[in-house]
Amino acid sequence: MVSAIDDAGLLIRDCFIWLYTQNQPKAMSLNHFIEKLNEDKEIKDTLKNQLNGWKTPQIKSCFEPIVMAQKETEGTFLDNFRKYNVGLLNTNVKIGQDMFPSNVVSTDKINEVVDKCFLISKPDKKEKGDFNAHRTVKPLSLCEYIINLTTYSNEAVVLDPFAGSGTTLVAAKKLGRKFIGIDINKEYIEVSQRRIKQTNTTYFILNDIKAERQLRILEKAAKYKRLNKRKIAKAV
Ligand SMILES: C[S@@+](CC[C@H](N)C(=O)[O-])C[C@H]1O[C@@H](n2cnc3c(N)ncnc32)[C@H](O)[C@@H]1O
Repeated sequence: MVSAIDDAGLLIRDCFIWLYTQNQPKAMSLNHFIEKLNEDKEIKDTLKNQLNGWKTPQIKSCFEPIVMAQKETEGTFLDNFRKYNVGLLNTNVKIGQDMFPSNVVSTDKINEVVDKCFLISKPDKKEKGDFNAHRTVKPLSLCEYIINLTTYSNEAVVLDPFAGSGTTLVAAKKLGRKFIGIDINKEYIEVSQRRIKQTNTTYFILNDIKAERQLRILEKAAKYKRLNKRKIAKAV
């Protein structure tokens, strides 16, 4: 949906999340389908055991995204407002207990339960590395959560095309997954490498892909993007 809005020429300004704690999980167990397989009971039981807790990829949805987009302004925001009376946000509107408007809203009274349902720890300086000057370092626990949730086998490859200081890659290494990280900024790649080097894993990693190769992948991708951008520009 966001791509369609973007393609339509609107500018994506923000994304609101409407947060709630109660919803019906839609994930389905595989047992019913395993039962229908043309296999003997022993194989079916092994498979059921193997997939215990693994379900179709739908976890409990606890938010609804609301995209906020606007037409490009004519001149500055102020010029545009004076001409059309649109395009600014009214921050006199308050949310919660007289708070400045935020892009998270909730219709549940979730104050007491929000930690219980959603809390993961924030990264501290030690986790980031004191040499890490990246401004938007993700919590390691968030990356671990997503990797654990989505990868079954140690052969799974975790790809982060916007790796930044490498938190996803550190999490992947910690969890014994293969990983590829890409970033446009060479300094961040060096920070990533340093963090990855310092990460202990109890797993044996077969072959992580070295930074020089990552850079080559990145350069190829950038070239591809440039060529395609030119093509798009000509077509319009
Ligand atoms: C939000 S940061 C990622 C932070 C990372 N998760 C961490 O914990 O450190 C996004 C990264 O994408 C990189 N980036 C932006 N445009 C890019 C592009 N076209 N190709 C590759 N990397 C890009 C930026 O250099 C930035 O480090």
